[in-house]
Amino acid sequence: MAKIISGKEVSAKVKNEVKEKTLELKNKGIEVGLAVVIVGDDPASRVYVNNKKKACEEVGFTSYEYALPAETTEAELLALVDKLNKDDKVNGILVQLPVPKHINETAVINAISPDKDVDAFHPVNVGKIMIGDYAFLPCTPAGVMELIDSTGVEIAGKSCVVIGRSNIVGKPMSMLLLHRSGTVTICHSKTKNLKEICANADILVAAVGRPNFVTGDMVKEGAVVIDVGINRLENGKLCGDVNYEEAEKKAAFITPVPGGVGPMTIAMLMKNTLTAAMIKNNLM
Ligand code: GUN
Repeated sequence: MAKIISGKEVSAKVKNEVKEKTLELKNKGIEVGLAVVIVGDDPASRVYVNNKKKACEEVGFTSYEYALPAETTEAELLALVDKLNKDDKVNGILVQLPVPKHINETAVINAISPDKDVDAFHPVNVGKIMIGDYAFLPCTPAGVMELIDSTGVEIAGKSCVVIGRSNIVGKPMSMLLLHRSGTVTICHSKTKNLKEICANADILVAAVGRPNFVTGDMVKEGAVVIDVGINRLENGKLCGDVNYEEAEKKAAFITPVPGGVGPMTIAMLMKNTLTAAMIKNNLM
């Protein structure tokens, strides 16, 4: 039986560290501010944005919410981003994705000042992640690294398999594991011998977006299994990319869904926002 890696516990630790530092800044007269922008009324995005605002309160940040109607034009959204770029009270800017189809997502990401890009989605920050010289950590992959580290399992030299090659998770995840000297394989929909490759992984990260995609026969005995997926089944239940019942019989450590990677993403967002404030005030 695998040990459960608690995202709730690890994220609470990260948020506590952020909270302590934020208090230190407050004592120096520095306020940390995060602007959260949501366009339209996608219910899942609404939940994520509410959770981000709640986390801001927990750690002592000021959050500024901009809830814009679905009909907002690209020019209007870009004008808001420009205003926030220039606002000294705002250390981090987060535009919740996806944005409505008539708005070009890339244009919005590119408009955010790299110094305030706490998602680390801007090409400048993506490039910095590639060369290993980064201030902002890509939130979900950085959260996964914290979860792996919480197990005490060494990454260097291990076979690390990432399923999924998205810009938000798969690609930066692979880079972070590589920076820690993991031997990294990126798998995707065209990968041949997927089962064999996964079954050889000491560390397996699933970020495919397909419920129960990783079955027990794809898990190595004693592996660390990290499930980034959050899928809603027809019966309304949440489920990950990993078949938990099968995988936990073979893994040494496994993350649950929910309560695994999800809370970590938000905790790392708080950490990035604090970093932005510290850099701006020459404290880093
Ligand atoms: N939508 C889903 N995940 C994310 C995220 O990490 N950041 C933003 N901005 N939007 C998202």
